[in-house]
Amino acid sequence: MYPEHVAIIMDGNGRWAKNKGLPRISGHKAGVERLKGIVECTINYGISYLTLYAFSSENWNRPKTEINDLMHLLSLFLANDAKRFLKENIRLRVIGRRDRLKKSIVKQIEEIEINSYKNDGLNLIIALDYGGREDIRSAIINIYKEFSNNNISIESLTLKDVEKNLMTTGIPDPDLIIRTSGEYRISNFLLWQSAYSEYEFIKCNWPDFDNNIYIKVLQSYGKRDRRFGKLNE
Ligand code: IPE
Ligand code: IPE
Ligand code: MG
Repeated sequence: MYPEHVAIIMDGNGRWAKNKGLPRISGHKAGVERLKGIVECTINYGISYLTLYAFSSENWNRPKTEINDLMHLLSLFLANDAKRFLKENIRLRVIGRRDRLKKSIVKQIEEIEINSYKNDGLNLIIALDYGGREDIRSAIINIYKEFSNNNISIESLTLKDVEKNLMTTGIPDPDLIIRTSGEYRISNFLLWQSAYSEYEFIKCNWPDFDNNIYIKVLQSYGKRDRRFGKLNE
């Protein structure tokens, strides 16, 4: 069985470029190219949800020049590739804070989300200015408002209430989380949602993560025994 929802921490663009004596931006460009290949492969394998970690809450702490380069690449991606995705029946959604993004980028995102809303092919979710802690913090704020406005006792809060208020509302939890570049950490990715996710840590940098490696990872997922705390007969 293949996973229903794959989430990927696309890491190692900078090191990929450095190893080749290129500027970091070249690594990010190569990363976007690889992303497109992985999207196609995900569609071919009939996977319903793909979440890609593109920019974390903490990535704002990088040098301004790198942030500008990344935002420029993002804007090009939204203008060209994401528009093409619409024709492939992909539904695109962006999770993360929007108030720190440039207004023009927010406008591009909103446009694509509206235009792809009715698509029923791959659900592609881009995590942008996303942080798992930020996700939980904003859920707490929403819940506080809802509960106090409606005089609901906080004691009645359910796990479903929390899920409903996360940025991923309506999206099933990731079955498989892949991280490239040989780092063994989740760097503030889907903290709540990953409670029972399977992990796969890959040595190669993101631009070198080819479809063959991806397919092997998908196949090995099928051999795992997911117990969710129960016993398997
Ligand atoms: C991942 O590659 C892309 C982003 C975080 C935006 P990095 O830029 O983190 O590359 P490394 O980890 O420095 O090699
Ligand atoms: C995680 O990568 C975020 C993205 C891939 C977008 P980082 O490169 O920011 O993570 P750390 O700093 O190595 O933990
Ligand atoms: Mg990195």
